[in-house]
Amino acid sequence: MTGPGAITVLCAVLGPAEADVVRSLGEPGTGVTVTRRCADLTELLAAAEAGSGRTAVVSATLPGLGREAVARMHQAGVRVVALDEAPEPSTDRLAAVGADGVARTVEDLLPVVRDETIVPPAAAAQPPGGSVARTGRGRLVAVWGPVGAPGRTTTAIELAVALAAGPSAADAPGRHRRANLLARRGALGPVRRRAPGGGSRASRGQAREQVVLADADTYGPCVAPRLGMLDDSAGLAGAVRAAGVGPLDVETLARHAPVTLPGVRVLGGIGRPGRWAELSGAALDAVWERLRDLADWTVIDTGPVLETDELLSYDTRAPQRNAATLGALAAADVVVVVGGGDPIGLQRLVRGLDDLATVPAPITPDRLVVVNRVRAAAVGANPRMSVRAALTRFAGVDAHLVPDDPAGLDAALLSGRTLSECAPGSPVRAAFGELAQQVRQVVRARSSAAADTSPWVGIPAASRG
Ligand SMILES: Nc1ncnc2c1ncn2[C@@H]1O[C@H](COP(=O)(O)OP(=O)(O)OP(=O)(O)O)[C@@H](O)[C@H]1O
Ligand SMILES: [Mg+2]
Repeated sequence: MTGPGAITVLCAVLGPAEADVVRSLGEPGTGVTVTRRCADLTELLAAAEAGSGRTAVVSATLPGLGREAVARMHQAGVRVVALDEAPEPSTDRLAAVGADGVARTVEDLLPVVRDETIVPPAAAAQPPGGSVARTGRGRLVAVWGPVGAPGRTTTAIELAVALAAGPSAADAPGRHRRANLLARRGALGPVRRRAPGGGSRASRGQAREQVVLADADTYGPCVAPRLGMLDDSAGLAGAVRAAGVGPLDVETLARHAPVTLPGVRVLGGIGRPGRWAELSGAALDAVWERLRDLADWTVIDTGPVLETDELLSYDTRAPQRNAATLGALAAADVVVVVGGGDPIGLQRLVRGLDDLATVPAPITPDRLVVVNRVRAAAVGANPRMSVRAALTRFAGVDAHLVPDDPAGLDAALLSGRTLSECAPGSPVRAAFGELAQQVRQVVRARSSAAADTSPWVGIPAASRG
């Protein structure tokens, strides 16, 4: 029976130590009651989520014990105490996955279990992106846009390349970042990517800043093939797996993200959309945060869907297909919203901006709206003015306009290259270069603690709100 005020314990300890733990914790006068003896992690999670105990005592080697499992127990309001009797303690791994306490022997367990100062982090369900504290200095830019292939991937790729080229003379911040230093010291591994046909693209040209281009689209991942990458290594999924079971160091992360273009590492997507469940949860949030230590900028290509049904079920345990997109949006310092420059694309963009405003994840107010493929053939004479007028009227926002250049983009698609490699004179390339400068300006404004908290960048104050 559970005594009044007793600490209820769910026990998932392997081997002969299990009986010792149950006996030792359950002795009269300890103030502890073992309410469930669990055979494995699945049973433990079910008991935690059913509210059968307040503290989980687990073997440090319990199969499946990782960041995701600990996050689920925390969400259920259960703190996690690990029994780690191995000669080589795995303290770092246990801390990285979120364990609240560690005991080296069965005898040491009781004081840790009874320590009332150990409390699980907020018991409430966390929306994607909310479970990891921000650490590094690099910036995250999420590229999102509604369905209809408005150009999210094109924007992400070209923006990454433009950011790697560094700020214009007027924008240069005049300081070096850790990633640059690490890269110069050769600490982040060799250049792995080879361009089709021979020489290394990655070593050609000048990069002034380090960028990671990450593919988090769980519907149509294609960054790697768009860049002619031959391997289907699903680097982002690999990084998530690594983050799920222990500390994710920058060097491991770098191994999953080969340098593909000058200054640009690519963290490839899941290859087949059916693998979407691999991109979610607390481990993905940890990857986004660790990327801040690897690169000056991380540009994330996201999926188009911000599914309302899934949003309603944040507090369930089922993996969610859109969690990768929502987590990226929540982690980002700047969100670039891309819409297509035709009547349908603009209508979807207006609705998409509304949808973004209502997702429950905490998304930065620093957003830049891009209208891509702006052309007279789709919106009539004077397309730039028409697009701007429509967006101001229906969404109250201004936009950065990118022209249509089928020849340039088709050449890029055909060759698996970027515009700077195969169509350097394309006006689209110039437009994305300007977008990169706008992203820098937004970040600079934010970091200099600008008072402007408007959700819409570049909109005159009179038109806001
Ligand atoms: N400014 C442009 N001019 C001409 N073609 C473009 C332009 N931007 C993108 N495209 C072409 O439009 C197509 C869709 O672009 P992209 O793949 O970037 O869209 P997306 O939003 O990522 O689509 P998906 O929903 O498939 O992820 C591609 O063939 C691309 O080459
Ligand atoms: Mg895409």
